[in-house]
Amino acid sequence: MENISKNKLPKHIGIIMDGNGRWAKKRGMPRYAGHTKGARVFRKIIRHCNKIGIQYVTVFAFSTENWKRGPKEISVILKLLSDYLDEAEKYAKENIVTRFIGDCSVFGQKILDKMAHLEKLSSTSTGLILNIAVNYGGRAELVNAVRLITDSAVKGELDVSGIDESVIESHLYTVDQPPVDLVIRPSGEHRLSNFMIWQCAYAEYVFMDDILWPDFNENHLNAALEEYSRRNRRFGAE
Ligand code: FPP
Repeated sequence: MENISKNKLPKHIGIIMDGNGRWAKKRGMPRYAGHTKGARVFRKIIRHCNKIGIQYVTVFAFSTENWKRGPKEISVILKLLSDYLDEAEKYAKENIVTRFIGDCSVFGQKILDKMAHLEKLSSTSTGLILNIAVNYGGRAELVNAVRLITDSAVKGELDVSGIDESVIESHLYTVDQPPVDLVIRPSGEHRLSNFMIWQCAYAEYVFMDDILWPDFNENHLNAALEEYSRRNRRFGAE
């Protein structure tokens, strides 16, 4: 890790915190116990990213598809999110900017107020920008962007011939943020699962097969960064 020069570090890391259910099952515990441990690991990894100077991290905390899970599991994940929101001041003091991406309109007013409070409190921080993806789906994000753009076009505010990639980007949740450089997914699954499908178009992927998210630590993150620093990114060029 110490050997990686700053310009070989990714600006934006996406993390799919996978394997919580299997981690718990292996220990004879209910699936939600894996999420509880996973939420602690999330805090540790975010702090580490902030410490080593990563500029943007997006974590996949709850997908639009996760509503298919059992009610107990859903309520535990939402409670973990709510607990994190209650610690808002601590993270703002640590200079971490927290933002929420996804369709948050489905959440109750109490959670929405806490989210708004944390976003406001941390908006003046200058360290890591953390996007927490909740009720997030990459396709739903694009549908939302298409609706907004179409609405502007119908109102005559935007010419259809003027719609280009930058217009689409400016209607995504990640407006003004750089694309994802590196996606890390532990647990042996080798897929994107509808995560940041536009933003990951040229991302590098590091799939870590031998580790489940609740056992993930700073050394695993550093190993992924080392792997990334050895990749030759060509963006379609020779
Ligand atoms: C995937 O593991 C993980 C999730 C669906 C939820 C991740 C959420 C957390 C770690 C808590 C987030 C909390 C905050 C504060 C951001 P899985 O259940 O699909 O695991 P499996 O593939 O082993 O079943």
